[in-house]
Amino acid sequence: MVEASTFRDVLAQWPSGVTVVTTVVDGVRHGMTASSFSSVSLDPPLVSICLDRRLYSHGLVESSGVFGISVLAKDQAEVARRFAGMAGDVADRFDGETWSTAATGVPLLDSALGWLDCRVLHAYPGGDHTIFVGEVLAGHAARRTAPLLFHSRGWGQFADVLPDVATLADSGLVNSLASRGEIADSVRRTAHHVGRSGIRVRVADLTAGAPLETLPWGGAAVEAAADADHRSALVESAVQARQAVDRGISVLEFKADGHDPRSVERAAVLARELAGDEGTTGRVVILEDAFALAGNEPALAAIDVLAHSGATEICLDDTSGAATPLQVRALLQDAVGLARPVPLRLRLRDKDRLGLVNVLTALKSGVHHFDTTLGGLDGAVATEDLLRLLETLDVTTPADAVALDRVARRLREHPPGPPAPSPNGTSASTAHPTPMPSL
Ligand SMILES: Cc1cc2nc3c(=O)[nH]c(=O)nc-3n(C[C@H](O)[C@H](O)[C@H](O)COP(=O)(O)O)c2cc1C
Repeated sequence: MVEASTFRDVLAQWPSGVTVVTTVVDGVRHGMTASSFSSVSLDPPLVSICLDRRLYSHGLVESSGVFGISVLAKDQAEVARRFAGMAGDVADRFDGETWSTAATGVPLLDSALGWLDCRVLHAYPGGDHTIFVGEVLAGHAARRTAPLLFHSRGWGQFADVLPDVATLADSGLVNSLASRGEIADSVRRTAHHVGRSGIRVRVADLTAGAPLETLPWGGAAVEAAADADHRSALVESAVQARQAVDRGISVLEFKADGHDPRSVERAAVLARELAGDEGTTGRVVILEDAFALAGNEPALAAIDVLAHSGATEICLDDTSGAATPLQVRALLQDAVGLARPVPLRLRLRDKDRLGLVNVLTALKSGVHHFDTTLGGLDGAVATEDLLRLLETLDVTTPADAVALDRVARRLREHPPGPPAPSPNGTSASTAHPTPMPSL
């Protein structure tokens, strides 16, 4: 027979989730931490738990014939300790908790990731334990976060996994250069090189209503990027979208105001409409100020609407630079799963030099697509900086880092002038003294 200590040591190497098993007898509720929970059958829905026959809880489940399973979340190690009797003298393990009841009347923790309400169907002897098989009468998946894990006698959670591949798009370069008085040819050339290096470039912003051909740099810039999938246009109506598609731009971007559910609905309607147009390969809805909304709920509600709209990407825009690593983490924790299968894209600012830290947090939270601006011209994370970060993290991208770096270096050596004056006339000069040389 295996030695008891060896047996325990091997078992300790087996990682598991953590639940609280609850029951109620004559109106008196009780709960204990259990990791022996397992699914048994889908049809009928059956689960099992193994309880030590010497435990107080064992007698209660045996006599009540009912039990609840509350699956704990990664931030609930304290709850697990309390219900395992590891928190010292606790008069009532339910202190500080709220709970609901369903079919059987057992308490089901509101703070849990989810719960199952069960009636004991079988009780099989299992050495010093009893294997209770329960028929699941009701269930609820409540929180969309990661589970608490137990391994090697310690609490843990899933490690963050970096993606194998990430993609970049540049949505600020052309507008930034044009607004700084850069001559059309120079804008075209720079956009061309960025596009050729494998990065999608936003070549036109049609939202001001001017036809594409009349933009001083627009017409030329359309041909800039290497292929149709590597150029995009910002539009706000089906008419503008048609104009872009007719000029060979198949990826269309349009904005939704995260503060305004009607604006989100309008973007969803446009995405749905364009989904029927064979000329478009991409419909990117940009959710503005995604990180500056009060709490995460408005952004999550918007993502839920957009994920069912025909959008091919949802871009969370840190429009005012409000994002912090904790906020990025908190929002993406729920947003990535909610948007699925529609991928999320992030456009992050580099405010207070938090840009790349936020990118790293986003990568670890399951986002693989980023919007940047070459040279960080408009305050966004710089395309070349992000490429370098991805390289150091061993995350591959379809982009050619060497080619892109060459364009970025030219831009640094020949910086464009300051932005054109805003309508209230605050900026100094618009003329660019020396246009960027050819590469
Ligand atoms: C992570 C973890 C998992 C546990 N899993 C089980 C289990 O599956 N079955 C069991 O009988 N005890 C398990 N226990 C031990 C019980 O939670 C513990 O003995 C508890 O105090 C029993 O409560 P009671 O004495 O009020 O019945 C586990 C303890 C921990 C810390």
